[in-house]
Amino acid sequence: MAKIGKAVFPVAGLGTRFLPATKASPKEMLPVVDKPLIQYAAEEAEDAGATHLVFITGRHKRSIEDHFDKAYELESELAAAGKTELLEIVQNILPERVNCIYLRQAEALGLGHAVLCAKPVIGREPFAIILADDLIYTDGKGVCEQMAEVHERTGASVLSVQEVPPDETNKYGIVETERQADGSLRVISIVEKPAPNDAPSNLAVVGRYLLNPGIFDKLEQTRPGAGGEIQLTDAIAALLQDELVIAHPFEGKRYDCGSKLGYLEATVEYALNHPELGEAFRTYLRALQA
Ligand code: G1P
Repeated sequence: MAKIGKAVFPVAGLGTRFLPATKASPKEMLPVVDKPLIQYAAEEAEDAGATHLVFITGRHKRSIEDHFDKAYELESELAAAGKTELLEIVQNILPERVNCIYLRQAEALGLGHAVLCAKPVIGREPFAIILADDLIYTDGKGVCEQMAEVHERTGASVLSVQEVPPDETNKYGIVETERQADGSLRVISIVEKPAPNDAPSNLAVVGRYLLNPGIFDKLEQTRPGAGGEIQLTDAIAALLQDELVIAHPFEGKRYDCGSKLGYLEATVEYALNHPELGEAFRTYLRALQA
């Protein structure tokens, strides 16, 4: 199986779109049914073989660390009450082979800057980046594993992409691609949040990247771009001058949990698919519509 070793989770953002819910609690801890967004993201990386999860955190993000840590009081209370199923859930948030590393991004200088903070622990190996507010449901392999397979075949950096409505290009990194002999899409250019009239296509980068370590050299030279922030997109634009970058139209359904509507859609659909809740929730929705 194609694998990745390390995955980076930039989680220092303020989550202003969900205020006041995110006033004291990180947006990555918003639950979809019964798991926080960050746990879905961590599980996707772990399913792709990741042994090191690197969280780029900021102030007010302690609950993320606590979530992946041991919870002594809770565990002993559940054990004493004989609630073994719940105890197992709490103890097995992540398998033991997985290490969590937390780095503080002191200032919110942009996604590119957050990723650059991970350089000392990534070293010179390919690594994944997962933006937890893009939740992606798959029937089979997770998107991280799909990207690992493309990387294994090609050695290239991989960006997961999806077509978006042409009037929404200003919300994403947008790529221009060229189909290669093997059917894959080579990225020729990438631009951060272009206005619909300036966009080279409507193929958008979603929050999944598998990058070669050369990106760090580019990030070190990247000046503030769109929105005055150090943009990962700009560093990728520099990287593709030197090496192959492939756009991967992933298999799966993406929910933009950075927006209230996307978050609600995810909640409804994950609830409908939930083994314990699904049936009762479907009955409830039907009654509501009648
Ligand atoms: C970030 C990236 C953007 C990408 C998007 C995917 O933007 O800068 O290129 O398309 O994530 O969700 P943000 O949503 O943080 O503004």
